[in-house]
Amino acid sequence: MPEALKATVILDKSHQIAKVDERIYGSFIEHLGRAVYGGIYEPGHPLADEQGFRKDVIELVKELNVPIIRYPGGNMLSSYNWEDGVGPVEDRPRRLELAWRTIETNEMGTNEFADWSKKTNSEVMMAVNLGTRGIDAARNLIEYTNHPGGTYWSDLRKSHGYEAPHNIKTWCLGNEMDGPWQVGQKTAHEYGRLAKETAKAMRLVDPTIELVACGSSSSDMPTFPEYEATTLDHTYEEVDYISLHQYYGNYSNDPANYLAKNMDMDYFINTVISTCDYIKAKKRSKKTMYLSFDEWNVWYHSKESDQKIEPWTIAPPQLEDHYNFEDSLLVGSMLITFLQHADRVKMACLAQLVNVIAPIMTENNGRSWKQTIFYPYMHASVYGRGISLQPILNSPKYDSKDFTDVPYIDCAAVYNEENEEVTIFMVNKHLQEAIPISCNVKSFDGYQLVEHAVLENEDLKAVNTASHQAVSPHSNGSATLNDGLLEVNLSKTSWNVIRLKRNLQN
Ligand code: AHR
Repeated sequence: MPEALKATVILDKSHQIAKVDERIYGSFIEHLGRAVYGGIYEPGHPLADEQGFRKDVIELVKELNVPIIRYPGGNMLSSYNWEDGVGPVEDRPRRLELAWRTIETNEMGTNEFADWSKKTNSEVMMAVNLGTRGIDAARNLIEYTNHPGGTYWSDLRKSHGYEAPHNIKTWCLGNEMDGPWQVGQKTAHEYGRLAKETAKAMRLVDPTIELVACGSSSSDMPTFPEYEATTLDHTYEEVDYISLHQYYGNYSNDPANYLAKNMDMDYFINTVISTCDYIKAKKRSKKTMYLSFDEWNVWYHSKESDQKIEPWTIAPPQLEDHYNFEDSLLVGSMLITFLQHADRVKMACLAQLVNVIAPIMTENNGRSWKQTIFYPYMHASVYGRGISLQPILNSPKYDSKDFTDVPYIDCAAVYNEENEEVTIFMVNKHLQEAIPISCNVKSFDGYQLVEHAVLENEDLKAVNTASHQAVSPHSNGSATLNDGLLEVNLSKTSWNVIRLKRNLQN
């Protein structure tokens, strides 16, 4: 008879990885498909506010508690003229958008996005075009957004109705410059030199900014990780973060292998950390480079149908992946991976936020609704703020096509000292079996169980639609807490959020 599956974990408040930088719960809006037009902005919609922003979408973004949102791209960035998107809307040019082969109307631009972000309580992570443009456009843009006034570009902003600067703190130096699909693709040497000089000019305008240099557009690129090493060799003292991008898909319909893919993400993060530290050693630098995982998600469902989209239309339904239940489990596991790297991953952006490979969907002139992946993202963002603890996990393991020794259980825990709360996030990847887990939480004296939320479904391929939320969490999880021992039966293929709090009655 096979041995019964069981797992144990010890969580101790003194075993800490690092304080979670809340910006790991960031997201991304690109001028792509219906993300902007028909997504966040739809002036004719019955729920549009005075600026044309959909209030239902703003409410959903607020529910996700998104701290920072990257803008305006993405691949689109590499041939974007930011000047097209400011000033009187009626004077803004229509352009061929080369990355996604659509028409960009420029009705929305930098100022409107800054306004929208305020409404969603998010910060802007702005990106400068280092594909077709460079130092000059970047220094002008930051003068426009961040300089108080009395100069050409800052006064132009004022004349556009924005008296106060936007004071955007976080800036990306280009996007995926290693990719052959990028307009203005660059070798690591070309990019590294340009990024360094652009960083220098931007910091002369505003020394308080933080800068992100592009790493590889995925760990599958043939130039990975040399691209990172060379780029950092040029930019190490000028930038604060190196970017990582990665998307996964279940192309071969092998759920066991698919659900293990956050192990690949873990490998990717570890390799980039090693590369950063190699350059640190090479330069005898005291500075530690941090990671900005500013594009991550599942992306594969829409790839085939996107081939059939007519070019040169306005806001076509591009990259509209309809996420199923198994996708939400992998998204949960990827969030756990970020928490396990809280000491080095300081920003991460779920790509993207609305309609385009997104947790939030809208119908043009209609409803908005939550995809399956909305839930783990929301849980982690809302409850995962505090100190990431180092769980001592003992989990049964399995082998899949690409991975060996995959723990059936992924686990991360966040201790919010101020609120006296601990939240444990767990995924059970077993396709057939529930797994009981005993969690030793004795160091959390006086804590009581608040909730055990579970996202589960008999059908791995279940999807949500505008009219039916087939996949949504319930709060009837099995967790019990007695004498510092938390006993949980983790249902097969499930995402679990277990919340403990001290002195519940207060
Ligand atoms: O998020 C979709 C696209 O994926 C982005 O435009 C690009 O940066 C990446 O390749």
